[in-house]
Amino acid sequence: MVGLIAALVMIREQIGKATLYCGDSNEVMENLPNDFFSVIVSSPPYNIGRNYGLYEDKKNNYLDWQISFWNKVSYKMKDEGHIFLNIQPSRQKPLWCYELVSKLDWKIQNTFIWNKRIEIDGYVRGQGTTSQSKKYICNGWEYVFHLTKKGKTEISQKDSGVGYHPKWAEENAKRFGKTWRPTVNAWHIPYETIGHGSISKDLMKGEHPAIFPRKLVEKCIKVSGCKKGIVLDPFLGTGTTSLVAEELGLNSIGIEIDPDYFNFACTRLEALQNNMQGDMFD
Ligand SMILES: C[S@@+](CC[C@H](N)C(=O)[O-])C[C@H]1O[C@@H](n2cnc3c(N)ncnc32)[C@H](O)[C@@H]1O
Repeated sequence: MVGLIAALVMIREQIGKATLYCGDSNEVMENLPNDFFSVIVSSPPYNIGRNYGLYEDKKNNYLDWQISFWNKVSYKMKDEGHIFLNIQPSRQKPLWCYELVSKLDWKIQNTFIWNKRIEIDGYVRGQGTTSQSKKYICNGWEYVFHLTKKGKTEISQKDSGVGYHPKWAEENAKRFGKTWRPTVNAWHIPYETIGHGSISKDLMKGEHPAIFPRKLVEKCIKVSGCKKGIVLDPFLGTGTTSLVAEELGLNSIGIEIDPDYFNFACTRLEALQNNMQGDMFD
């Protein structure tokens, strides 16, 4: 049913360097060339019954769908490409993420943990949604699996590195010949949708329950070191991956099945394009 609706409403928009499709990514991907993309940053639905508008987040054949989808997508990637797959283990099924990635044709090159904190005015004010449970602690992190064809593709330590405090930068540059430290595989990145006043309100206009913080996408693209390839997000949601690709001067393709989310993604990209205050959420 969803496939049928998506086929009927497939729309393509070109905004800046981004090409956005409203449709089912299974179908859209078939029409895109092989050996085409340099980087994927994406978070598929997790099959946990989240309220995603048109898409129903409860499938009996979820793992089979995801395995066959990502294995087909790997043909669309350049040999030296990078896939950053963001997924979250559940309390009942802590191993499902490994079940998925271990059945993919591409190799795990790095595993990142995204520690999801709530930050207000530069201070950490919490980590996840406040749990009401008397038994269980709520989840405050997610995986980002970095998959590559052979598990040994070159990355950029410099682009993804963390700058020294300005106070020490000059001295360290003299001592070590660089102004940054390499990143590690645990990333503390705050939500943009919680605790940021007007930023959250504007983002929540998209009424999407699982929006990437832009920093997360930026960090992934910087690990890849990509400077001129095409970035893909086949589960685009509110368009964050294309938005960040645009900010980094990269071409992107994004695919979203839900017309409301798709329209919201277009609005975000257009706002960036029109340079309305740089970005309407800044
Ligand atoms: C976890 S959300 C991605 C959110 C996104 N990272 C953002 O920053 O807004 C997953 C998205 O995949 C979409 N989706 C589900 N099945 C799809 C399909 N077959 N083709 C395209 N999009 C799909 C859902 O509507 C949902 O918006």
